[in-house]
Amino acid sequence: MIPVILSGGSGTRLWPLSRDAFPKQFLALVGHDSMLQATWHRVAPLASGAPIVVAGETHRFMVAEQLREAGCADATILLEPLARNTAPAIAAAALEATRDGADPLLLVLPSDHVIVDAAAFRAAVRAAGAAAEAGALVTFGIVPTGPETGYGYIKAAAGEGVRAVERFVEKPDAATAAAYVASGDYAWNSGMFLFRASAYLAELERHQPAMLAACREALARARRDVDFVRLDQPAFAASPSDSIDYAVMEKTAHAAVLAIDVGWNDVGSWAALWQVAEQDGDGNAHHGDVLARDCRDTLAWGDGRLLALLGLRDVVVVDTADAVLVAHKDHVQDVKAIVAELKRRG
Ligand code: GDD
Ligand code: MG
Repeated sequence: MIPVILSGGSGTRLWPLSRDAFPKQFLALVGHDSMLQATWHRVAPLASGAPIVVAGETHRFMVAEQLREAGCADATILLEPLARNTAPAIAAAALEATRDGADPLLLVLPSDHVIVDAAAFRAAVRAAGAAAEAGALVTFGIVPTGPETGYGYIKAAAGEGVRAVERFVEKPDAATAAAYVASGDYAWNSGMFLFRASAYLAELERHQPAMLAACREALARARRDVDFVRLDQPAFAASPSDSIDYAVMEKTAHAAVLAIDVGWNDVGSWAALWQVAEQDGDGNAHHGDVLARDCRDTLAWGDGRLLALLGLRDVVVVDTADAVLVAHKDHVQDVKAIVAELKRRG
């Protein structure tokens, strides 16, 4: 099995720590490793060969340096000249993996998720192996805890273990999501996939032929040196931009799902980070030099300077060199709006 690690996101929901120049997968949010490094360490025991890491051209040195530091010096780093979302990124990786005529299982992983129980996750990947070998596009399902609209929803056929997918609906509206959760029949898509490289490419051929053709061309014309494989800019730019979820998983007849219970969290907000961070007896999660009194359920992220918090509850404070965020935990989703406003200002 070859890990394919997607490291191209911009992670603006953890502003001001996460930025275009330094997105969340490169940050050490939980523990000593960056999220990219933790992703590699989590699956290294499963890998039959070096991983393929797909990232944006501008992040190439950070990716290479962090992988080296994580003891992964031989990764294939595929660089996208511009972002075309996950379906083309995975297509390029699948084409690269089959270049020498091989057809390995690919374990596609976002680089910015937390998994508390790595051993249980590896066991799940092993359990999904046979179905993937047989041609299924396997995803890993999470028991939903609320009607989140930022996820894919999966209805599995009756049964145990790896089950066929009856329906895959990416990012439904709020009412639909609420109905799905109430029905008890749906799982969240974790965004991690296991399939044969050829199985994914065959589904692209069927459902996204223009995308596959553009990615083929971009890889055929790629510039290769000792450190990087740079996809050809004009060819890759010609690919439609879409996620694997919309482009393939909603359409394929070969999707399967295995439910996992591994402490998965996609750290999509400061509140989500608070949930997975180490907390003191009062529910406070503090990083850096923080002094707190009479505080409960707070998240404070210091960056060199001392932070002092008094009498706060459910508040997030994030200090960086040029911006400070102070927010109620119920409002951290609105960080996106702040980032949009900043982009408008230029
Ligand atoms: N290389 C590369 N290029 N990586 C990318 C790109 C790209 O253009 N776009 C996104 N990624 C990476 C992100 O860094 C992240 O690790 C992963 O691919 C998924 O992208 P997101 O943008 O975070 O997707 P999402 O959160 O909206 O939705 C996906 O994940 C959910 C679970 O967290 C979907 O798979 C949903 O169905 C799923 O529920
Ligand atoms: Mg995500």
